[in-house]
Amino acid sequence: MSRDAKPTMAPGATPTPPGPADDFYPRPIELGELRRRAVNVRDLGDGVEVVVVPDGDRLRIFREICPHMGGPLSQATVCDNDTLECPWHGYRFSVESGRLVDNPNERIMAELRRRAPACFKPESAPKYALTRMAYTVADGRAYVHRRRGGT
Ligand code: FES
Repeated sequence: MSRDAKPTMAPGATPTPPGPADDFYPRPIELGELRRRAVNVRDLGDGVEVVVVPDGDRLRIFREICPHMGGPLSQATVCDNDTLECPWHGYRFSVESGRLVDNPNERIMAELRRRAPACFKPESAPKYALTRMAYTVADGRAYVHRRRGGT
């Protein structure tokens, strides 16, 4: 079935996940309702909110919480270089991999680092990355797996 196909389920019926129900969050993502090149916020149930960024024929699904200091990625911006920019401190993460690709503070701090004491070890700084979520498409919906990982 194509990604843009509408669900064939009767109105009001409960979607059936493509595997054991316990493997998936209870609320699937309706593919036909997603905006392209935008942050789509979805509540998967069980207290889990995600941001969904359609990327070509794939979805990039991440936990809604920024790994830096918990900023709201629901208010993030999809940038031209396929990054997601957190609204709190401007960290940019790759939409494809979820990895941190730019920290504006690094540029600001560059001059200060040149004069930093020997105890400053940038190579041991935390490696931030978004929490990617795996999914399976069935009947025009993306069912998000409870296990970690991305596709
Ligand atoms: S909380 Fe997201 S960049 Fe700081």
